[in-house]
Amino acid sequence: MNTNNFQYQWALETTTIYGMTPEEKAKRYYHNLEIDTLENKHLLVVGYGKGIELPLLKNEGAIITAIDCNKRDIEGIDTLQFDVIQFKPEQQFDYVYAYGVLHHTPDPKAYFMHLADLVKPGGKIFVWMYNRQRNTFLRKFNIFNWKPKNIMWVAKIQAVVTWPFHFIAHLLFNNKKRNLPSLVLRYYDSLCCENQYVYPASFIKKWFEQREMECKIDGEGYLGTKP
Ligand SMILES: C[S@@+](CC[C@H](N)C(=O)[O-])C[C@H]1O[C@@H](n2cnc3c(N)ncnc32)[C@H](O)[C@@H]1O
Repeated sequence: MNTNNFQYQWALETTTIYGMTPEEKAKRYYHNLEIDTLENKHLLVVGYGKGIELPLLKNEGAIITAIDCNKRDIEGIDTLQFDVIQFKPEQQFDYVYAYGVLHHTPDPKAYFMHLADLVKPGGKIFVWMYNRQRNTFLRKFNIFNWKPKNIMWVAKIQAVVTWPFHFIAHLLFNNKKRNLPSLVLRYYDSLCCENQYVYPASFIKKWFEQREMECKIDGEGYLGTKP
């Protein structure tokens, strides 16, 4: 599994990640999981990356277990280094949250099934995956095998070249406004990992059905509640 390159990217933005502040990122958990409170809820954050939002979630009462195959220490948070399919805890979790992770694993369906088994009855799982192939042309050169700093250069050049188009799309079509560092991160993301799987929603729905969960889809991803 080639996922080591991810750890290189977190130094790029200091106070935000993908252009989001910790507060904005934390809010997504409430939005995506459709919940009112995290108070005393066991939350498993899979592939937490930079994890800038986790201290805020902890302050709101969540009991957090954060896993990444590239561990990064975050003060006050239980962080574990695992390829998540190897993570076999005794307990189950109220919420399992995997944002932008499954498409980078070697077998997204098997990883999803594993995560679904870690949800308590009545608990919820939220996953977001790429909905289209990204950077297909450059990926032909197996850039993920390059040194991370060189992959980063490619991402930086892409970001500088394409930023004006993003800006125009923001003005004309109200597309999300992107700053340069967050664009670099996105390009880096799509280049740095060997795996980049994309499945249609109908396919992913079936994964949920196999775990007897109804799957709710919105632009942000897939949400299931365990019976
Ligand atoms: C694109 S980043 C997403 C980070 C974070 N979820 C966010 O939204 O900011 C993907 C993260 O998943 C981690 N990851 C990839 N495959 C993994 C695996 N098999 N087990 C655990 N973590 C994994 C990577 O190390 C990386 O930190």
